[in-house]
Amino acid sequence: MNRWLVVYSSVTGNTKKVAEAFCEAVNGTLVRVEDAKEPEGFDAVAVGYWLWRGGPDPKTAAYLSRLSGVNVALFETHAADNRSEHSVTAFARAAACLGKDCRVLNVFECQGQVPEAVREKRAKLEAEKPADPHAKSQGWKNSIGHPDEADLMAAREFALRTDKKLSYFLKKDNA
Ligand SMILES: Cc1cc2nc3c(=O)[nH]c(=O)nc-3n(C[C@H](O)[C@H](O)[C@H](O)COP(=O)(O)O)c2cc1C
Repeated sequence: MNRWLVVYSSVTGNTKKVAEAFCEAVNGTLVRVEDAKEPEGFDAVAVGYWLWRGGPDPKTAAYLSRLSGVNVALFETHAADNRSEHSVTAFARAAACLGKDCRVLNVFECQGQVPEAVREKRAKLEAEKPADPHAKSQGWKNSIGHPDEADLMAAREFALRTDKKLSYFLKKDNA
């Protein structure tokens, strides 16, 4: 197993659960983005964030910009449906925040339940302005109960697959 630093940002706990699952699978070192330093002494860093306005939350965006020359795995939780244009575009936004010469090894996403207050706002919007694009998007409803056990299992599998991929690149880099 390679040496992984797992950095996450989480306000309501969804991304933290995914980060813990990733970390457990690769026996990594888990740290909150608020406490994260450059990943010295690690082979790679996995960075987990929650979606804010269609991209990584601001604390994570700032952390990503501090990384350079690092192997990176990205994971995100969001209200939007998986593989939606919204959630996939967010990976590009996160990657664009990275400093020089980073290699994105792999990405993982799953839904994360939005807080009740936000759900109530969306329900009100849906009732009052059904044509509003935010009201049309149903992700906030589908996100209820996520991340669930299947998401966390998928996160562990993602971690193991990405660790294998990292080994391949490290071998190639050192050849
Ligand atoms: C202020 C705010 C903005 C959000 N913006 C988005 C967004 O742009 N797209 C999205 O899919 N989800 C959005 N969400 C939903 C969160 O990204 C989602 O619930 C996530 O799992 C929260 O992660 P956490 O529990 O680790 O804090 C937003 C939630 C909040 C509270």
